[in-house]
Amino acid sequence: MESYVRIFDTTLRDGEQSPGATMTSAEKLEVARSLARLGVDIIEAGFPAASPDDLEAVRRIAIEVGNPTDGTRPAVICGLARTTRSDIDKAWEAVQPAAFPRIHTFLATSEIHMQHKLRMSREQVVERVREMVGYARSLCADVEFSPEDAGRSDPEFLYYVLGEAIQAGATTLNIPDTVGYTLPDEFGALIAGILRNTPGVERCIVSVHCHNDLGLATANTLVGLQAGARQAEVTINGIGERAGNTALEEVVMALHTRPMNFNLTTGIDTTQITRVSKLVSNYTSIVVQPNKAIVGANAFAHEAGIHQDGMLKHNQTYEIMRPETVGASRSKLILGKHSGRHALKARLISLGFGLNEAEIDQLFERFKALADKKKTITDADIEALVSDELYQPRELFTLDGLQVACGTMGMPTATVRLRDPQGSLHIQACVGTGPVDAAYKAIDAVIQAPNMLEEFVVHAVTEGIDALGEVTVRIKSENPGVALDAQKEVDQPRTYGGYGADTDIVVASVKAYLAAINKMLIANGQYGPIEMAATQTVAM
Ligand code: KIV
Ligand code: ZN
Repeated sequence: MESYVRIFDTTLRDGEQSPGATMTSAEKLEVARSLARLGVDIIEAGFPAASPDDLEAVRRIAIEVGNPTDGTRPAVICGLARTTRSDIDKAWEAVQPAAFPRIHTFLATSEIHMQHKLRMSREQVVERVREMVGYARSLCADVEFSPEDAGRSDPEFLYYVLGEAIQAGATTLNIPDTVGYTLPDEFGALIAGILRNTPGVERCIVSVHCHNDLGLATANTLVGLQAGARQAEVTINGIGERAGNTALEEVVMALHTRPMNFNLTTGIDTTQITRVSKLVSNYTSIVVQPNKAIVGANAFAHEAGIHQDGMLKHNQTYEIMRPETVGASRSKLILGKHSGRHALKARLISLGFGLNEAEIDQLFERFKALADKKKTITDADIEALVSDELYQPRELFTLDGLQVACGTMGMPTATVRLRDPQGSLHIQACVGTGPVDAAYKAIDAVIQAPNMLEEFVVHAVTEGIDALGEVTVRIKSENPGVALDAQKEVDQPRTYGGYGADTDIVVASVKAYLAAINKMLIANGQYGPIEMAATQTVAM
């Protein structure tokens, strides 16, 4: 059996389904570029039927990332579709421009899903799979089929459905543990059973797709690979529905660190892992927990004296991987006040950002302003500037000015001046429990967009008193989102994330909040005139 494991990354699809992880099209494109540089084999770029914006984002990725001009092998660009003609048509429209397009279609096979969600009999499910996998195959040579909730499906029924999918033209069979319920021995046995009992399975790649509800996603994925699966579906930082998906970095580094146990390889350039992790964290506003395996801030930190002593004597006493293997010990001091545009451009290229000349000019302005305040500018500072300056949602409201008064005397007060989508300026002042609270109240008074602040995280990009501060926020709107499984909307409120970076953390906080509000307004379709509160409007 071949030893190559295909890495199928679904950060832009299953990952983007995490609460608040909504990314802008520009952010999605940059993530896709980074995934391609990382060496991912298949990029699931989105769910094109979700909205025209989603379709367009997948299509752009198919065009730009699916056809590299530098001679590298293109990643397969995949679009998800329910088993309906209209979804499959939209997925095909979106991925078709890629050199290697794939349609991924799915239908649930567990009794609980068939009876209560789909209200379909086993026969109807089999018939739909035959018909829709066949339809997808009539459009695209590469078709993946997933029996949703396979982990809780009757294995005999699964063998039959999968056999029919193969007959209809499926080339990859993906086995999802949709609700993260299975235990490693059960999941390994399921994959082994599928490989033994499904007619025609030798013509297909078997794939594993695990969710982390019991914290077993990586373990289940690894046993699935040991049982013979040769594609792993993963996300960066393990983001995804509920407790998330299997983390790419965990599976790749397990295979890399224990080669004798697995004897399996991937095409991943492990030295890119930390950079891509940071990028995805910034764009999704999902902060990586410090103790997260491989990519957490503490993953390579040794605090206890006894550990430090051991490390000084021999680093393998407490370190099973070298930080440089995952790109975690990057150059610290790189640019400063006297660095020119050329030096910045060279650094951006080596960091993997595919920016055009106008974007580099825009970034250079910010870089100069930062270099005036901060002596040394690190890779992390540059990444924060790129996120803050270039990949913000289309700005409906922009910050035009901010002033705060705070301290132990008097009430914290903030005055904000915002420019609305029509170009008018609005000024509002509020008091609050602190300067950030006061500024957020003032913004709320201008933009009447009801929301709840669910999370607010401040973090210094680098050490030192002059460090750039990063803020990520998560707000909950009252508007529903689009359900993947049903045609109708889900009536759960949606969450939106925002990111801001500045040497002044109140400014960074305001930018992050505005970014989240802009994302929410765009998602709610509020592109046009927005009802304004009676604030002081400044003549232009
Ligand atoms: O978890 C799941 O079942 C999925 C399918 C769409 C593959 O994400
Ligand atoms: Zn999933």
